[in-house]
Amino acid sequence: MSEPETILDVQGLDAGYGRSQVLFDIDLSARKTGAIAILGRNGAGKTTLLKALIGELKPMRGRIRFDGLEAQDVTTERRVRHGMGYVPQEHAVFGKLTVQENLTLGAVSRRERPGIEMALDFFPKLGQRLGQQAGTLSGGERKMLAIGRALLGRPKLLMLDEPTEGVWVGVIEEIAHRLTDLRREISMLLVEQHVELALGVADYAYVVDRGHIALAGPADEVRDDARLLRYLAP
Ligand SMILES: Nc1ncnc2c1ncn2[C@@H]1O[C@H](COP(=O)(O)OP(=O)(O)OP(=O)(O)O)[C@@H](O)[C@H]1O
Ligand SMILES: [Mg+2]
Repeated sequence: MSEPETILDVQGLDAGYGRSQVLFDIDLSARKTGAIAILGRNGAGKTTLLKALIGELKPMRGRIRFDGLEAQDVTTERRVRHGMGYVPQEHAVFGKLTVQENLTLGAVSRRERPGIEMALDFFPKLGQRLGQQAGTLSGGERKMLAIGRALLGRPKLLMLDEPTEGVWVGVIEEIAHRLTDLRREISMLLVEQHVELALGVADYAYVVDRGHIALAGPADEVRDDARLLRYLAP
């Protein structure tokens, strides 16, 4: 069986804030299906990487090729229309809007405006909360809403920044199962503090240490690599 094609190819990416550089010469790639994990301790630069990929942050240097698009040259909106989805670490839902309204907004970037049922099939618990203000959801429910909302944009590549942060263990398992299903259909880039979860879901992993890719390889090899603990130690 042939390997699925590359959908994301990042080369020589430098990024930061003002004059302070956070990411140095990042190379990474993702295939059309499957998942890559991005690991690294607090402050390593994981969120900064996602912001650069989605276009919230303009890179200092480097190339981001996404499914035939030179993404570094175009707006976030254009990247989303081309199939990038992003679930940010914080403020991923509109707290004052209901669950239903949040989901409906998730579909607006697509011309065909997919119905919200798809997100409800994915996380049935959301169906019981449609009229509730998103700001009053539990942490786990809010994470499910954020993922469901992003899925309604029908992404080809879904980038998730710590989808299980602050979530109770039972819901973590549910989210992990759903992500494992999803990676059979689309490409996923998963930033996670739960290393075992991330390496279980992903086929390939990158470990970021102070803004550099310190270690990269198939998830099973990275799990067994003695350097992993060193790069993740506080
Ligand atoms: N808007 C900003 N302005 C200046 N510095 C920033 C900004 N956002 C992040 N940083 C700095 O960039 C570095 C990388 O931050 P980033 O949020 O990318 O880390 P992270 O790997 O996502 O960490 P965490 O695991 O805690 O989420 C940190 O030193 C942080 O303080
Ligand atoms: Mg972060």
